[in-house]
Amino acid sequence: MGSLMDILIIGSGGREHALAIGLSDSKSVKNMHVAPGNVGTSIIAQNHDIDISNSEEILSLASGLGIDLVIVGPEAPLVEGLADCLNSSEIPCFGPISKWANLEGSKKYAKEVMEKLDIPTANYVELFEVSENHAILDKYKPPWVIKRDVLAGGKGVTVTSSKEMATSSINNAIEIDGSVLVEEFMEGEEASILVIMDESDYVCLPPSQDHKRLKDNDEGPNTGGMGAYAPAPVVTSSILRRVEEEIVQPMHSYLKNQEFPYRGCLYVGIMIDTDGAPRVVEFNVRFGDPETQVTIPLISSDIGELFFSAATGNLSKVDVNFHSYSSATVVLASNNYPSRPIIGDIISGNNVSIEEGEIRAFVHYAGTAINADGDYVSSGGRVLSATGIAPTLKEAVEASYQIINNIQLKDSQHRSDIAFRAFER
Ligand code: AMP
Ligand code: GLY
Repeated sequence: MGSLMDILIIGSGGREHALAIGLSDSKSVKNMHVAPGNVGTSIIAQNHDIDISNSEEILSLASGLGIDLVIVGPEAPLVEGLADCLNSSEIPCFGPISKWANLEGSKKYAKEVMEKLDIPTANYVELFEVSENHAILDKYKPPWVIKRDVLAGGKGVTVTSSKEMATSSINNAIEIDGSVLVEEFMEGEEASILVIMDESDYVCLPPSQDHKRLKDNDEGPNTGGMGAYAPAPVVTSSILRRVEEEIVQPMHSYLKNQEFPYRGCLYVGIMIDTDGAPRVVEFNVRFGDPETQVTIPLISSDIGELFFSAATGNLSKVDVNFHSYSSATVVLASNNYPSRPIIGDIISGNNVSIEEGEIRAFVHYAGTAINADGDYVSSGGRVLSATGIAPTLKEAVEASYQIINNIQLKDSQHRSDIAFRAFER
């Protein structure tokens, strides 16, 4: 790497704010830019309001600014070929080329790769004809898992015990996309393993657990994620070893031997059954949101150097170390999230952070904007999250809630049981 870097982060969520905060502590970063960014990133970096669905626009911004490393938050630009575009201009990109981004872009492609590499995952069938739906719903026991084979921004999966809803999900998907996957339901507890990967090595970051349902006790509709914590004790060291041996190593061996190897973060979503056997629920080709908010603060090494090394095929040359802390984040969502979030309401009490001995807590911004009067207002479904980092998980959770309970946003929603599975163990 040699000299200090100018970096560009792509995205506008809590995840990108967390990446920016982590990178602002990096000794290898000189200037930080974010496109389009959010209220949080505007405080520590320069935001650029460009269309991030247009790779050429990103390339032109990166070239104009003399960017040394682009870090891509969301999956859509990767699926569209952003890394391919940056690679052809020799700008290092943390995030895979579109061929590998298809591991997230197409559930069918991910299943085919897992089948080829003998990676444990749920059985599935692909349907093309509406007339096949009854036979398939009889083949699998409820609850039924129905997955659209498109990038659906986290909204392409239906898990239901209602035959009527399963049938209509299958029929709708076939009508819109021409096909649909029906998957065997896996029992167990979910966890997320973020793996930094290039052709030279891979590094598993501390395992985390998301809370995908809107309401306490894992009830209510699926969301982008209502909170997370790390390390997640459900992933014991022996389970992590199995995840590495049965999932991460076969993926790494496959991806490193390609003409354009995988460079970036591979998000491995797993289901762990009562015998401790992990199976893949999904691959994502990027950092998770809100998992990033709880994972990045646990890395004690220089993350600028870490990301640059993975983007240039030199991961094996860096040491990656972690703090022995725990972290938790609690998401504050708008009224009516996830169906039709109501936005534009004033937020107060958010300009607070905690620093008490080894306990820290602060706000990660996502769907928050500042209006003409200078007030913070909600501008998206997931508005912000409060993140605590502390020697114990209990302290981290308490610090997060100390902040979240002081924030006012009309009819906002948050879960009050983040990390409950860890405390039940
Ligand atoms: P995905 O987008 O594939 O991660 O699916 C969204 C959510 O649906 C997952 O986080 C799980 O909670 C649930 N899910 C997906 N596939 C399965 C499955 N085969 N068995 C049980 N739950 C699943
Ligand atoms: N938190 C789930 C995801 O990022 O896909």
